[in-house]
Amino acid sequence: MLRKYALGLLLGVPVFAASNATPVTFYKDVLPILQKNCQGCHRPGEIAPFSLLTYTDARPWAKAMKVAVVTEKMPPWFADPKYGHFANDRTLSQKEISTLVAWADTGAVEGDKKDAPPPITFPDGWNIKPDMVVEMPKDFHVKATGTINYQNILVKVNFPEDTWVVAAEMRAGNPRVVHHMRAIVRPPTSTWLATAIPGEAYEEGSAEMGGARQGTDLLGKYNPGLGAQNFDVEDSAKFIPKGSDIVFNLHYTSVGTEQTDRSKVGLVFAKHPPQKRYWMSPGTPAAFNLAIPAGDSNAEVVSEVTVGVDDAKLVYIQPHMHLRGKDYELRVIYPTGESQTVFKGKWNFDWQVGYQLAKPLPLPRGTRLVAIAHYDNSINNKFNPDPTKLVLWGDQNWDEMQSGFLGLIFPVNTDATKVFQTSGPSLLPRSTSGPTLTSVQLSAAK
Ligand code: HEC
Repeated sequence: MLRKYALGLLLGVPVFAASNATPVTFYKDVLPILQKNCQGCHRPGEIAPFSLLTYTDARPWAKAMKVAVVTEKMPPWFADPKYGHFANDRTLSQKEISTLVAWADTGAVEGDKKDAPPPITFPDGWNIKPDMVVEMPKDFHVKATGTINYQNILVKVNFPEDTWVVAAEMRAGNPRVVHHMRAIVRPPTSTWLATAIPGEAYEEGSAEMGGARQGTDLLGKYNPGLGAQNFDVEDSAKFIPKGSDIVFNLHYTSVGTEQTDRSKVGLVFAKHPPQKRYWMSPGTPAAFNLAIPAGDSNAEVVSEVTVGVDDAKLVYIQPHMHLRGKDYELRVIYPTGESQTVFKGKWNFDWQVGYQLAKPLPLPRGTRLVAIAHYDNSINNKFNPDPTKLVLWGDQNWDEMQSGFLGLIFPVNTDATKVFQTSGPSLLPRSTSGPTLTSVQLSAAK
């Protein structure tokens, strides 16, 4: 209802509310909203292309801000509010939206500086107190223009003993060009990047990438405005096996001039042995068998895993798809047959947002996690590299993926290789489309 009211304003319907109420001013009404919701990205040196720190900064953007918040383009957040509650929810309240709309519609008044809240100070250094910092050993050169595929850089750390980590923070060396990145634990047993020269950058999909990521664990991630990650949910921590190294997985964007970057990750070690392990699934559930027909504007792809251990809880959901992705749903089907959608949202390749559950969700052994995604492989998808092609699973942006990085906590003595067992649609042979929910139900009925 209120959203309709805001749209009415956008379309030029006269402002009734604002005319008899006290005027909306920058210092009193708008600045607190910008501080809380926008300045994390909209300030010098951060990813957003302009600053929203001061009245002078924000004034020219009044109309654009109105459009961006009414159309929900800003702040970037893609979860459908009908499903799940997330601790990192960025959605503005209707009141905040109405305030920004009213401000733009009533001449973007400055108001009295005395009404301004104190400016927020953004820590220039770490948001955590790292016990250890792992840095890329040399600069990566970011070209001035064009697309840059994902880069992988192995950093030899060789952790001298089994290590538990309660918090991690990735810091971009050059936030202008680091779109997002991940720090991945590579245990000594992993074949992934086994022939890679430490410090060198390897494109995703290149020969040196080696085997699958099996056994690896996502340690830290960086997205604009994300900050540090806390792994202490219910006395839990991240596990780094003795002898492990760290892989930086980086997505750069070019900005018109040549740039360099040398990013790092800071780690806080647990002060006592934790009760639970905080584990990130290595991109599972996954649909390695996916097939997206040429020209299909709403191709469905379904994947599934079954929980194979006791006492696991879901704490985090981060869908992953490429340029044809449209939407992603995670459905939990309990051994009782009851089912629940825990996340549903639009997909946006540029943002790669992760969703932190407001409350850990118990996943009894035998629970199935079903991911349902849709793709637009038609000519109408402006990001589509080639609508005439049947698209299969692959690392490159022009291939596709359907996978999820799911964060779980479980007792420390749990065998992590047994947490998720591939099941259902993910076991089907590749067809010319799907696998879809219908095809799974049909094959189950046989
Ligand atoms: C997580 C980072 C982030 C946050 C938080 C964020 N922005 Fe942005 N914003 C960006 C980036 C990056 C761009 C430029 C790329 C784009 O348009 O997607 C942008 C673009 C914009 C634009 C230009 C849109 C256009 O169509 O050209 C406006 C206006 C804007 N933001 C307003 C806001 C407001 C108002 C808020 C807070 C309510 C906000 N943003 C919060 C990162 C952010």
